[in-house]
Amino acid sequence: MSMHGVQGEDKNSLTKEQSKQIRRRSFALLLDIVTPHRRRFIATMVVVVFSVGLQVAGPAFIAMGIDQGLPAAMEEGNFTPLTLIAAGFLISGFGAAGLLAVYTKWSITISQDIMNELRLRVFAHTQRLSMSFHEKYTSGRIIARQTSDISTLGELLNGGVGNLVQGVLFMGFTTGALLLLDPWSALPLVGAILPVMAATWWFSIASRREFRNSRTFSARLIIQFVESMAGIRAVKSFRRESINRETYSEKVEDYREATRRTIAIFGLYDPMLKVIGSITVAVVLLLGAFRLLEGGIEIGVLLAAVLYTRNFFSPIENLAMFYNSFQSASAALEKISGVLEEVPALAEPAEPQPFTSHTGGLSFAGVSFRYNDEAQVLPPFDLDIPGGQIVALVGATGAGKSTLAKLIARFYDPTKGVVSLDGVDLRNIADRDLRQSVVLVTQEAYMFSGSVSENIRLGKPDATLEEVHQAARAVGAHDFVMALPEGYDTDVNKRGGRLSAGQRQLVSFARAFIADPRVLILDEATASLDIPSERLVQHGLQTLLADRTAIIIAHRLSTVEIADRILVMDGGVIVEDGPSLELRKGTGRFATLHKAWLDSLV
Ligand SMILES: Nc1ncnc2c1ncn2[C@@H]1O[C@H](COP(=O)(O)OP(=O)(O)O)[C@@H](O)[C@H]1O
Ligand SMILES: [Mg+2]
Repeated sequence: MSMHGVQGEDKNSLTKEQSKQIRRRSFALLLDIVTPHRRRFIATMVVVVFSVGLQVAGPAFIAMGIDQGLPAAMEEGNFTPLTLIAAGFLISGFGAAGLLAVYTKWSITISQDIMNELRLRVFAHTQRLSMSFHEKYTSGRIIARQTSDISTLGELLNGGVGNLVQGVLFMGFTTGALLLLDPWSALPLVGAILPVMAATWWFSIASRREFRNSRTFSARLIIQFVESMAGIRAVKSFRRESINRETYSEKVEDYREATRRTIAIFGLYDPMLKVIGSITVAVVLLLGAFRLLEGGIEIGVLLAAVLYTRNFFSPIENLAMFYNSFQSASAALEKISGVLEEVPALAEPAEPQPFTSHTGGLSFAGVSFRYNDEAQVLPPFDLDIPGGQIVALVGATGAGKSTLAKLIARFYDPTKGVVSLDGVDLRNIADRDLRQSVVLVTQEAYMFSGSVSENIRLGKPDATLEEVHQAARAVGAHDFVMALPEGYDTDVNKRGGRLSAGQRQLVSFARAFIADPRVLILDEATASLDIPSERLVQHGLQTLLADRTAIIIAHRLSTVEIADRILVMDGGVIVEDGPSLELRKGTGRFATLHKAWLDSLV
């Protein structure tokens, strides 16, 4: 499957067709998440129309008050028109404010729902994607998708879209009101359009680059931060702190500089609009004054015309801002849609094939494998492991042992050929069945936050406490767990609950034991144990491995002793295959390894 997600990051290297495709997929995503909210969206828009309409009515009431209300009150002593007009002014003002409150509440609800939906989709999807995706797409980048990209979109949804709609409506309604009230006063506004457009055009071009830069730089900050912290052990052991601080401070500086330039551009654009606005208002006032002298206009109308002209300019800045936040949001959406478009390379079968036997027999038929587009790691080979056999896989670092193990656990699919469990191609086994049938325990032994018993229960979520204890006893973990401050309830992330690498290993054995898989793979899973703990595990191992197929990858040959069969790998090829005793008697690699090991014991 193709990996489109990596695209959309580097715009320069894309063809026109690819950019078009990226825009299409982001638009499709947008449509997909907005569609369920369309009713509420339309209702919100109706509310905005009324709210803006009421806002724009204000100056018209003032004109009426001055031209009709005041004369009636002053000349005839009749205050009724003035009172009615003042009431109308107040009602429209309150109405506009009330509707604005409704609008704000509704629109924030919609945008929060949309962001939630996106957050959940990105999380669920990245979790489903295969190992090969995660090897290419660093966690820093995924975090940037989850955080800064989604919040950029949120900014647009929360403020930007509302500003756009309100601004456009406000300007439209204002122009309409002005035309109705006094078409001549609209003339200077027409004259102002050209300079406003020119200034806005300059602004959008100048700010686009800086805006994009500041987004890119902020994403880079997140990425470097996450990666330095994720690799904090390596950072400390190699004394990388000061170098990291330097590159980080360069990035902080880049970000600040981009932000500063964006603000500087605003600093020019804003005054430009103010100047154009002031000139236009002055022209309306002057022209109006001449016409007033000739009796061609009433004073209230002139006042309203001046207010309308001045108001006309206020949303322009927001509109220009919308353009920017639209730009950044669409860039963010492109990246998010890229991740969501990634197809899990290891698709679940549409119709899983049922098992006819449950012995745990494994077979490799014509299997070869390469990671992504890299060189072949495993050349084509066949291998049969009967159910219940305990196989030790030995060989130098880089020989391909872990790769073979990962193929059995279906972290990857073979490039060619078929890996099958009890006669069923792994690709035809439902994910749940596969996870239950094959368990891979590695040296990492990752602990999730929570108690020790929760961590053991991962292997069987509905296990009883008794089963948890049994599993821990079976692998020799019970004693150290009982010695923890709160025994099985000890939180592995709290003081006193921190487990050593070896203890974590024991917990992960218990986790595997409780899962009771048909096939168990231990990939250097005892490497963190000291000799006494390993002895302990040796006993546990007998229990752990009984009645199932087991593949043990280990450097210490003591672990290999319990194996029925030894496979020696070299350069991706199985070069020796036979029972331990037989191989030891020969002159092959295993015999040499074993001799060296025996010598090291003396
Ligand atoms: N994720 C990966 N991407 C690309 N190459 C890999 C990856 N993992 C391992 N390799 C390569 O595959 C070969 C076999 O590695 P591995 O199976 O881990 O060996 P072993 O477990 O025997 O030490 C090595 O040459 C290694 O560089
Ligand atoms: Mg390995």
